Formats: sequence, C-alpha cells, structure tokens
Amino acid sequence: MKRENKRDHFSGSFGMIAATVSSAVGLGNLWRFPYLVGQNGGAAFIIVYLFFSLIICTPIMVAEFTIGRRGKGAPPLAFLNLTGSRKWAGAGVISMLTCVLILSFYNVVGGWTVKYFFNSVFLQYREGAVVDSAAAFGQFVTGSATPIMYFTIFMFISAVIILAGVTKGIERTSKLMMPLLFVLVVLVAVRSITLPGAGAGVRYMFKPDFSLLDRRAVLVALGQAFFSLSLGAGLQITYGSYTRREDNIVRNSFVSSVSDTMFAILAGCAIMPAVFAFGINPGEGAGLAFVTLPQVFTQMPLGGLFSILFFFTLFLAALSSAVSLFEVVVASMIEMWEMPRRKAVLIAGGIIFALGCVCSLSQGVLGDFRILGRNVFDLFDFVTSNVLMLATSLLVVLFVGWKLKKDAFMDEITSSGDVKLPRWGGLAVFYVIKYAAPIVILTIVLTVIL
Ligand code: TRP
Repeated sequence: MKRENKRDHFSGSFGMIAATVSSAVGLGNLWRFPYLVGQNGGAAFIIVYLFFSLIICTPIMVAEFTIGRRGKGAPPLAFLNLTGSRKWAGAGVISMLTCVLILSFYNVVGGWTVKYFFNSVFLQYREGAVVDSAAAFGQFVTGSATPIMYFTIFMFISAVIILAGVTKGIERTSKLMMPLLFVLVVLVAVRSITLPGAGAGVRYMFKPDFSLLDRRAVLVALGQAFFSLSLGAGLQITYGSYTRREDNIVRNSFVSSVSDTMFAILAGCAIMPAVFAFGINPGEGAGLAFVTLPQVFTQMPLGGLFSILFFFTLFLAALSSAVSLFEVVVASMIEMWEMPRRKAVLIAGGIIFALGCVCSLSQGVLGDFRILGRNVFDLFDFVTSNVLMLATSLLVVLFVGWKLKKDAFMDEITSSGDVKLPRWGGLAVFYVIKYAAPIVILTIVLTVIL
C-alpha cells in the first residue's frame, strides 16, 4: 500500500461543501425520507430525525473528516496511516464493501429515475392523462432487460464523472448540480403547497403526534439520518482526505448537514401536500415517488411540466450520490493496489454492475430467491443501513474518541491553531463523539434486538 501519495484536493470550502452536500442529498432525501415520514407518523418522526442528524450525526461527520484528512487517504489507507496496523486497514476495507453493496441497489433505483424522467419528457404524466401508475411501475421493475438497460445508462454517466477525477469530475459537477437541485426542489414545493387542499399535508408534516412513534420508528430515524448524511460508509473519510488543511471541518460539517436536512424537509413539502390535496394515502411506502406522484401529476394543473422537473431532480440527486459512493471504492482501490484510476473504475464498475443486475432481477424473475425472508435488493438495503453503516460508525467514533484522543482531535479540527474555532465548541463535538454517539448507537441497536 502506498503511504505517500500526491492527492487531488477540493479547491476550497465551497467545493468541499458542494461535494459533501451533493453526496448527502440523494434518493435518501427525495424518495425515502418522505415515505418514512408517511409511514412513521409525520412530524413526531421528523423531530426525532432532526435530533439525530444535528446533535449526533454531525459530530460523527466531523470524526470521519478528521480520520480522512489526518490519515491522508480513503478508509483503508487512512486507518493504516493513523495506526500502522493492518487490522485497522481491514476495518477500512469494510467501508469499501459497504459502498459496493449500497451501489448495487442504489444504481438500480437510479435507473428507475432515468426511465421516469424519459416518461415525463414524453408527457405521460401531463394533466388529464390516464395512467395506471401502480401497474405500470410493477410491470417495469419486475421486467428483466428494460430496467437493466436504464440502470446501465445511469451507471455509465456516473463512471464518466468519476473518470474525470476529484476536482474536474466530482467537484465541478457538484458545484453545478447542488444549486440547480435546490432551485428545482423549491419550485416543486411551491407548486405543491399552493394546491387547493394542501393544508392537510402541511399539518401532517409539522404537527407532531407522538403516539405513532414506537421503538422501531426511532431506529428507522437513526438509520435514515446516517444514510442521508452519507455516514458509516467511509465517504466523509475519503472526502476528508481531499480537504485542505485551511478548511474548517467543524463548520463545514454543520453547514452540510443543515443543508441536507433542509433538503429532506423541502422534499417532504414537495410531496406530502400534493399527496393530501388529492386524497392519496401518505403511507404508500417505497412506491410513493414512482406510483403515487405520477397519479398526482396527472391531476395537477401544469402536471406535465412539474413531472419533468421532479424526475429530473430525482435523477440528478441520485446521480451525484452514486458518484460519491463510487469514488470511495475507486479511491480505496487506487491506493491499495496502486492502480490507475481508469483500471479501478473498470474493475469496480464490473463488480457493481454484476451485483446490480442481481438486485434488479430480484424484483422480478429472481424474486423467489430469498435470504432472511428478503429478496437480494431488500437484503442489501437492510444490511447496509441497519448493520454495516451503524457498525462502521461505531468503529469511527470509538477510534476518534478513544484511540486518536482529544489532543490530536483538537489539533486536527483547528489545523494546529490556524483555523479559528471556539474551544468549547470543539470540545462539545469531541465529547459527543466519545460518549454520546456510541451510547446512542448501542442503546438503539440493543433495544431493537432485545
Ligand atoms: N446520502 C445519499 C442519499 O441520501 C446516499 C449516499 C451517498 C450514501 N453516499 C453515501 C449513503 C455514502 C451512505 C454512505 O441518498
């Protein structure tokens, strides 16, 4: 493994935040968050989610950035550089595998967004159109060749961005996509909130009913906060290694997670009011974006236009997150095996493509193949969100809190005093990492298991 390497860097704080936010804002915000809110009781769930993402998960993000910047590498190399131990480097390899598993199903859904974007461009969801969206969605995802074709298109685009490298590929596209995403989501949210009868949806989002919140919902909120902030998969470790010494990682972490959370709430405001305005069940689940919304668009004035905007947003958000996941795998391979970027993209891409085909087919012909009662797609989703990402995060916080320790942490976040940061702020973040985060992760996992 190469210990000294010349690294590509983000050009400054804006580049770093843009890359982090475009990784964080993805299907997790626009597709998953709204349906989880729908299934887990609306505003009460949102409050628990806010607590986890701002108080617990933002410090974990700081911990990941610290490991990456101090260790100067993607997870395997970063841990090796910081400890000199191959065992810890092995812990980094787990992150890489986590990203491979996430990408296997994430790219498939990315393919769905391409298909739905095309459908809307051909005005299938214009006002007054008649579609049986549940049947159409079912038929599409259970097919074999068609979903794989769309997933291939999606993967190809993300591979092109990754091939262009960190500054020219990831940073440049992120700086472009992030503001665009913001404008698009705001547009759709404004349309949705101004529909007649939208008030019920707004109340559902903002009026808490704690009776609907059970233990499982709390775990779901925690898992969702990790997933949405791209934690527990070595992503922020990798991006930390591209961060310059003079950038303030504590401030940038807070800016990134507040932006991500705001995107999730905005996405909820784009979807829930419209769903309520047309009297559709908000607890639809995973089909919310692909089954419920087409129904909503066909009933909405200018629905055709808004369907194009919405599915384009969904596609862009999915793409920029898939790119970031891909980068963790590629960067780790480049460093571990000293291979050129192009070769790493080809090998990793091949493996992810093969697993993705299995995930895609598990919606249809391979649907009877079940492990732990789940098809491969759901299994990968479940194992990554509820096991691997939580386990890796636990490792990250224990590492920073108990092995790297306070002085090294304070030295890194202040860049040896060059970055101005109130000392109490840095200490508060450190103590959350050292005590609160491991306790919260362990308690929640244990209460669910026991
Ligand atoms: N955060 C992304 C989303 O909300 C998904 C994602 C991208 C991710 N990169 C990640 C999740 C790294 C975990 C780790 O859709």
